[in-house]
Amino acid sequence: MTLQQESTLDAAENSLLVKVADLKVSFRKTGGQLLPVIDTASLTVHRDEAVGLVGESGSGKTMLCRALLGTLGRHAAVATAGSILCAGLNLVGAPEATWRRIRGREIGYVPQSSLAGLNPVLTIGTQLMESISCVRRMSGRELQREALELLDMVRIPRAKELLRERPHQLSGGMRQRVMIATALAQRPKLLVADEPTTALDVTTQREILTLLVKLRKELGMALILVSHDLAVIEEVCDSMVVMYAGLAVEAGPVELLTRSPRHPYTRALRVSRVDTAVRGKPLETITGEPAAVGAWPAGCRFAPRCALVQDSCRQGLQPQLRPMGRQQSACTFAERMEVQ
Ligand SMILES: Nc1ncnc2c1ncn2[C@@H]1O[C@H](COP(=O)(O)OP(=O)(O)OP(=O)(O)O)[C@@H](O)[C@H]1O
Ligand code: SF4
Ligand SMILES: [Mg+2]
Repeated sequence: MTLQQESTLDAAENSLLVKVADLKVSFRKTGGQLLPVIDTASLTVHRDEAVGLVGESGSGKTMLCRALLGTLGRHAAVATAGSILCAGLNLVGAPEATWRRIRGREIGYVPQSSLAGLNPVLTIGTQLMESISCVRRMSGRELQREALELLDMVRIPRAKELLRERPHQLSGGMRQRVMIATALAQRPKLLVADEPTTALDVTTQREILTLLVKLRKELGMALILVSHDLAVIEEVCDSMVVMYAGLAVEAGPVELLTRSPRHPYTRALRVSRVDTAVRGKPLETITGEPAAVGAWPAGCRFAPRCALVQDSCRQGLQPQLRPMGRQQSACTFAERMEVQ
């Protein structure tokens, strides 16, 4: 290895914020049996980087976010193998006291369906100040100043009035801004936003995405953005991880995965995009349904829906992610995929 290659490697290691490697997550069923839901996921996030997490409904995106926040236990799930490295610690199996040092401080979270996440009977001010006071001892006046600063950060006008209002008095976009402000209360190094624009109208979706991009720059923060929408990931993210049936099937820089995907599922997601559809030409769709948790087929999980399937794909073990230049693909025949 040349000196230049070594120093590039060192720089990448030094800027590493989170590294998830070969993570497996299972639900605990009544009776104690384990039902695998993530098998296996790997992901790295560097300082200032925006990573997109994309995949069909049920592919395990939210469970992966919960694993990153150490909240699997609240959903009767457990990480059974692999590692999550953050702040010099392996968090898999870490005690709650360790997670409290990570949650909010290292990694902030805007949960999926967060629009329903605000308490309807408490004012915005009370809820925001509660999340600040969880970690910092402050006087009432200081708490209010900090809450106003957070609302200002997420571009909420008339912030003082809003502190006295209740969630039902706010539009969906404003409530989402409040949720983002709450996640930023401890100025995390990484923000995980799980489908932050779902259930918002198109204009508000754009405003929230623009806000996330600005906050990333202003706070020097990394971002994991979960979305079904490849166009959004392409616009906002530097790299992406594609999930299918509890598995990371492709990962790498956004421009490579959109231009030259090395997994048939990524390719199928790309050609079924509504935003690039040609008028008069039928929209390509991915046939069939993703395999449900607990009913994953033998061999490659994508085989029943894959346009490039071979007989051998239906046998043996699920192919795992392997490097192909700057990309990683979990397709046995990735090399045969046409580079565009
Ligand atoms: N409490 C639970 N018990 C059993 N299965 C569950 C539970 N919660 C989620 N699942 C299943 O786990 C799988 C992964 O769920 P997850 O919420 O991570 O998917 P997702 O990729 O985030 O989907 P979406 O895009 O719809 O949000 C799904 O098949 C889901 O049905
Ligand atoms: S391994 Fe076979 S079935 Fe799976 S994605 Fe590749 S070509 Fe398709
Ligand atoms: Mg989800």
